[in-house]
Amino acid sequence: MTLTARASLRIATNLFFFIIILTSIKQANASVKEQDKADSWQWLPEAQHPCTIQRYTLDEIYETFGPEGVPALHETPLVVVANGNDKLRQLTQEDTILSNFPPNFTVTLSSSNSFSQHRRTVPLETYLDEMSHNNGITSPHQLSNESWYLFGETFTEDWKQVTKHYELPPGQTCQPEYVALSFGVGNRGSGVQWHIHGPGFSEALHGRKHWVLYPPHYSPPFFHHDQSTRNWMEYTYTNETKLRLYHADFLLKQQQQDVWQKQDKQHSILPNGRPYECTLEPGDLIYFPDRWHHATLNCDPYTAFISTFTSDHLYLQDDQKRQKTGNKEGLFRREL
Ligand SMILES: *[C@@H]1O[C@H](CO)[C@@H](O)[C@H](O)[C@H]1NC(C)=O
Ligand SMILES: *[C@@H]1O[C@H](CO)[C@@H](O)[C@H](O)[C@H]1NC(C)=O
Ligand SMILES: *[C@@H]1O[C@H](CO)[C@@H](O)[C@H](O)[C@H]1NC(C)=O
Repeated sequence: MTLTARASLRIATNLFFFIIILTSIKQANASVKEQDKADSWQWLPEAQHPCTIQRYTLDEIYETFGPEGVPALHETPLVVVANGNDKLRQLTQEDTILSNFPPNFTVTLSSSNSFSQHRRTVPLETYLDEMSHNNGITSPHQLSNESWYLFGETFTEDWKQVTKHYELPPGQTCQPEYVALSFGVGNRGSGVQWHIHGPGFSEALHGRKHWVLYPPHYSPPFFHHDQSTRNWMEYTYTNETKLRLYHADFLLKQQQQDVWQKQDKQHSILPNGRPYECTLEPGDLIYFPDRWHHATLNCDPYTAFISTFTSDHLYLQDDQKRQKTGNKEGLFRREL
């Protein structure tokens, strides 16, 4: 059988259009892929950034620090693999959390930039719904001052009905009169940009949460307060050259100014200029020391956690008074 000229022309024409269609599908795919690639979750912090903070079991905490646990104003971060708080974990599960609050329960959201200065009050249900958009992912290109995030204080009665089930962390200052609790939920890629405040603990309840920290005297490299943590983690932190140069520059300045302080020796920066870091699994908790710079990145579409801010200076003042007056009453001993 031979092809007529007409038939081969038709085949050639069809083939031509077919190739054009294929090419345009491929181009459309490529641009969708590029967008996806920019937004989708393409890295695993816990794999690429293994934990560089010392991890303890609860028993090891008490063996190391005694029956009161981590002392007030302890100077280095640590992670406790605690695996407690089943009750609170159960109450805050993604599919049941709403049923454990009154209907239309509202929460106050903060912007997730370094200053968290913006506020917005919405029903918890609305926030959880917004969080699940875009497959529960916050794009690395969304600015942190324009991303809403729930990690507020939980002092109302409605909150207390849920947080009263929280077993406080194993810390000397973790006594009701010295703590403020803060419950938070965020999606994958959410988190708060670099900031500082007093000491405390934060426990992962659902999902994984990555923490990065630098000691007080080392300002985090190349960050903008309105940039998202995810953006910093993916575009700044992954550039090792950048981190090393910044560290070398820091060391040089210190030498020139001859300001080798006690804290520089205590909290030497890791040689490559990397922050201290760890990915918390549900049941893990981290202790963040006073005034350490830190930023967080939530790694799962439903990442819930509870933080305990402690008043260590007040605790120590009170403790001094108690020792002066010989009044040991009220000096709480944690039951083992
Ligand atoms: C909750 O809010 C909706 C819409 O604003 C309203 O119709 C409903 O009555 C409210 N329910 C309660 C229990 O307040
Ligand atoms: C967020 O921050 C950026 C950069 O600092 C700024 O240009 C923008 O106006 C801010 N957005 C809001 C809503 O304040
Ligand atoms: C990493 O940072 C260095 C120094 O700032 C810069 O020259 C280089 O282009 C960056 N590399 C990438 C892949 O962004």
